[in-house]
Amino acid sequence: MGEGLLTGPFPRVGGELRCGSHRIADLAERFGTPLYVYDMDRVRERVDRFQRAFAGVDHLVAYSVKANGNLTLLRRLGALGCGADITSRGELFRALRAGIDPGRILFAGVGKSELEIREALDAGIYAFNVESAGELERIDAVATSLGVRAPFALRVNPDILSPTPHEYTATGHAESKFGVPLTEALRLYRWASGRRHLEVRGIDVHIGSQIIDPEPYFRALSGILDIVADLGREGIGLEFLDIGGGFGISYDAGPEMDVETLAREVVPTVRKAGLRLVLEPGRSVVGDAGILVTRVHYVKRGGKTFVIVDGGMSELIRPSHYGGFHAIERVDDRAPRPTEVVDVVGPICETGDFLARDRALELPETGELLAVRAVGAYGFAMASNYNGRLRPAECLIEGERISLVRRRETLEDLIRGEDLPETAS
Ligand code: LLP
Repeated sequence: MGEGLLTGPFPRVGGELRCGSHRIADLAERFGTPLYVYDMDRVRERVDRFQRAFAGVDHLVAYSVKANGNLTLLRRLGALGCGADITSRGELFRALRAGIDPGRILFAGVGKSELEIREALDAGIYAFNVESAGELERIDAVATSLGVRAPFALRVNPDILSPTPHEYTATGHAESKFGVPLTEALRLYRWASGRRHLEVRGIDVHIGSQIIDPEPYFRALSGILDIVADLGREGIGLEFLDIGGGFGISYDAGPEMDVETLAREVVPTVRKAGLRLVLEPGRSVVGDAGILVTRVHYVKRGGKTFVIVDGGMSELIRPSHYGGFHAIERVDDRAPRPTEVVDVVGPICETGDFLARDRALELPETGELLAVRAVGAYGFAMASNYNGRLRPAECLIEGERISLVRRRETLEDLIRGEDLPETAS
């Protein structure tokens, strides 16, 4: 664990799990289950840690909205000075509605539509992170039609394989759909620098997600700085360098990305290049600041022991989609129970609907609460209505304050948009 984070979030006091000073059991009683609980004080600590580590260079923490786009959370992050890394008009809408300064918003993604480009230009975002020649041409055309200049960075693909826990979260190698090859970047920058409605503003890289080792970032940085130097020789100056996100957290008591080690090399390098640094952390800001509280429906014994809970892959898809590990514990473990190896599964009609498989757990009783840890990122954000499930409530804790920041969905929410009058053909 890095400096400055001495205690983990969600401590256990006298056998009862808490968020700050609040008992998780009380929150579950009040808001029902399944329930996401976020510790805003932890989020602040995380942001603060980035701000301090990178204080030696002009920098922007553009929080990656895809990790958790809850409006109240975004509002708080905006107030802490964060910008936003967005990937759709939906995320642009969220970020703006939350009051995040458009001048601190970067728009990433390989498939931006004309509408999305127009809306982002209207909003006055800081930059598009452009992923292909075709996209650059489209941005140029839309900006021309609006009579404005579109600021952009090219997202380059440095062709490095960074160790991520799942192939789906590696993005920096040549076979991924992301970014433009280093060899093509210079040509595109040259072309863009002659276009009246394009403004070359930066350069961007994002090598993957849940990366623990800083070394691949150093390699990506050095590849990028070569391009920056080439551009400089041609009189094309940049304002910022975006090293993306992907900084790994600890899911299983193992190490996490040491942000300070990362900063020790990145800060002087970027400062020397005369550039502003942009970071796009998502998981490392909110990941361990969230738990999913779920209640045991049944304990079923067959070929295996199944602990069947009221939250499953519709609330948290990481275990089944990425083989992601999330620690699971009893919310109240004052009365000890025998440990057994079990599968913790949800109510969805899929064998892939599990939160943990072959996990040694103190066997809970029917009606007991379990907490699934480190689900603040890509938890609710990837939740679905599959099997007619209502997406869960989310609550946010800040010191003494408890806020419901998203109410549990209702049956009417489930059919919203479908209850149209039938038209005769
Ligand atoms: N910037 C870009 C361009 C990204 O594509 C991503 C994540 C981030 C920043 C933030 O990455 P983070 O700091 O959160 O690792 N659903 C997967 C993770 C997908 C990441 C997609 N891109 C998971 O649950 O592991």
